[in-house]
Amino acid sequence: MHSWVDGQPADSVPLKDRGLAYGDGLFETIAVKAGQPVLLDRHLHRLDEGCRRLALVADPALIRSEVLAYAAALGDGVLKLMLTRGDSLRGYGITPGAPVRRILLGSPPATYPPAYGTDGIRLFPCATRLSEQPLLAGLKHLNRLEQVLARAEWQDAEHAEGLMLDRSGRVIEGVFSNLFLVCNGLLLTADLARCGVAGVMRAEVLAQAQALGIPVAVADISLEQLQQADEVFVCNSVYGIWPVRDCAAMSWSVGPLTRKLQGIVRALLDI
Ligand SMILES: Cc1ncc(COP(=O)(O)O)c(C=O)c1O
Repeated sequence: MHSWVDGQPADSVPLKDRGLAYGDGLFETIAVKAGQPVLLDRHLHRLDEGCRRLALVADPALIRSEVLAYAAALGDGVLKLMLTRGDSLRGYGITPGAPVRRILLGSPPATYPPAYGTDGIRLFPCATRLSEQPLLAGLKHLNRLEQVLARAEWQDAEHAEGLMLDRSGRVIEGVFSNLFLVCNGLLLTADLARCGVAGVMRAEVLAQAQALGIPVAVADISLEQLQQADEVFVCNSVYGIWPVRDCAAMSWSVGPLTRKLQGIVRALLDI
């Protein structure tokens, strides 16, 4: 499937693009099933919030219609939407009001070993820590070097994901996922006010749990809490939910709440 730039088939952007130069932009990775972008409203909501916080000038209606058209043509797969602040004229300084550049890329459906979902995964304990930057926290911006460094820490196929802490040692998320704990019936996920990406699937899991009457909390999480958790799982908008079996010396069994939420998310993603 051809990529699109500003609504036209294209497979390159100008060398002056600020996404390339500075990571000055945002992205969304969206699962597409039978031509429909899954959880589109949540993706566009996060994108709008990112545009507002970074003062990126975008047309939400145009972006929605392009995503819908691209997804319809893609059929089944993964759609990546990038917005950059367009071309750079002079260093870091921005041209107020300049419209974003819209980039759409399609790829085939993601394929992961089915055992990740059934038996659960191992998390690699990453040494790379997340920096605390409240101005960027929660956003899916194009600066992802911490994740690149963290993902380079392991090469073996034994570990499907990595665990990332912040500089103060709080448990934040996975390298490409958010993390949930079940502690005495409470569903807990990290507060992302200082760092981390506020995942679309994390928001969906929190909403689904609340609808089921399950108590939920968003709070700082210590390694001790993680170790003592009854269940642990990771999630993102492409693979859904993977139960976590172990991370270094810590281990957990796959529990009933993880299975319940996994079933709901599987139905959403049709997997
Ligand atoms: C660093 C990071 N955190 C969390 C997530 C999960 O986000 P989402 O649920 O929107 O896919 C991702 C997804 O790629 C990510 O890269």
